[in-house]
Amino acid sequence: MTTPDRLTIRRPDDWHVHLRDGAMLEAVAIHTARQFARAIVMPNLVPPVTSAEAAAAYRRRILAVLPDGCDFTPLMTCYLTDATDPAALAAGFADGSFTAAKLYPAKATTNSAFGVTDITRLTPVFERMAKIGMPLLIHGEVTDPAVDIFDREAVFVDTVLIPLRVRVPGLKIVLEHITTAEAAAYVAQAEAGIAATVTPHHLLINRNAIFNGGLRPDAYCLPVAKRESHRQALRRAVASDSDRFFLGTDTAPHPRHAKEAECCAAGVFCAPFALEIYADIFDDLGALDRFEGFASLNGPRFYGLSPNEGTVTLERAPTIIPDSVGAAVGGVKPFRAGETIGWRMVEP
Ligand code: DOR
Ligand code: ZN
Repeated sequence: MTTPDRLTIRRPDDWHVHLRDGAMLEAVAIHTARQFARAIVMPNLVPPVTSAEAAAAYRRRILAVLPDGCDFTPLMTCYLTDATDPAALAAGFADGSFTAAKLYPAKATTNSAFGVTDITRLTPVFERMAKIGMPLLIHGEVTDPAVDIFDREAVFVDTVLIPLRVRVPGLKIVLEHITTAEAAAYVAQAEAGIAATVTPHHLLINRNAIFNGGLRPDAYCLPVAKRESHRQALRRAVASDSDRFFLGTDTAPHPRHAKEAECCAAGVFCAPFALEIYADIFDDLGALDRFEGFASLNGPRFYGLSPNEGTVTLERAPTIIPDSVGAAVGGVKPFRAGETIGWRMVEP
């Protein structure tokens, strides 16, 4: 099969980003805004974004660090806690303050200390969300320390997600950053109303990368990368004709001192060349014809939004990923730093 040297697709969106706040926000937001028209912004700040007012203020801080005329729309999310009020959440969705709500099981990941301790207690919140069509975005890992870290996603699907869908039918769910064959198979085959984001790193690395010649902080994120057979299942899922898989980078920058620490922070900073890296992956899969669906169409369709107007063009050209970006925050190392990838975005 011949592959084109130029690829023009509808403007894409990133359905899962961590933009942070303060100096880090200032350093990283432009990378997401360069490539994507919209992004679902995760609410795990300290303190987390739990109210419409906090989301509006955060949205203003994001827009304030972007250059004038930058055509980028942050889509805000509400961090669910044990105390989330269904009426306040619904009001925030109705007035556009929130596009979705994020469920972090307590202590599952970075800044999830305020997360939900018992998902069954949130049933009234989920019922309200189902009624108004508000998507629930899930970090799908159980937190029971007795469950092996490599099994936490698959166990979550069986013991939490499937029962939740029985309890609250009609709830629209995005299973975020899936890493396992079990999650991919469930999302592909389950009753409608479920979709999944897939990160570039989980399509490119398996768990060996975390231990390659020593501990590799830059390959450590949550959920952790799994064994090769799982990576292959994710690659098959995004290249398949299912419209339930879409682009969500989970770009999660941390300062170097937090990555290169006795206790390394979880997160892969993949924002700077995310779209180009995904194009490389789809090229490698011989699935460039599926790329637009994954990057620009499946996400909006699931969220009930229109695809973006306008297009972006990528061209086949060697692109070197820099070693570091964001000098003002001491430099953050991007995913695939120093490597050469095969695509670049043609600037309009
Ligand atoms: O690796 C991760 N980093 N996974 C998450 O779920 C959170 C994120 C972060 O905020 O750093
Ligand atoms: Zn995330």
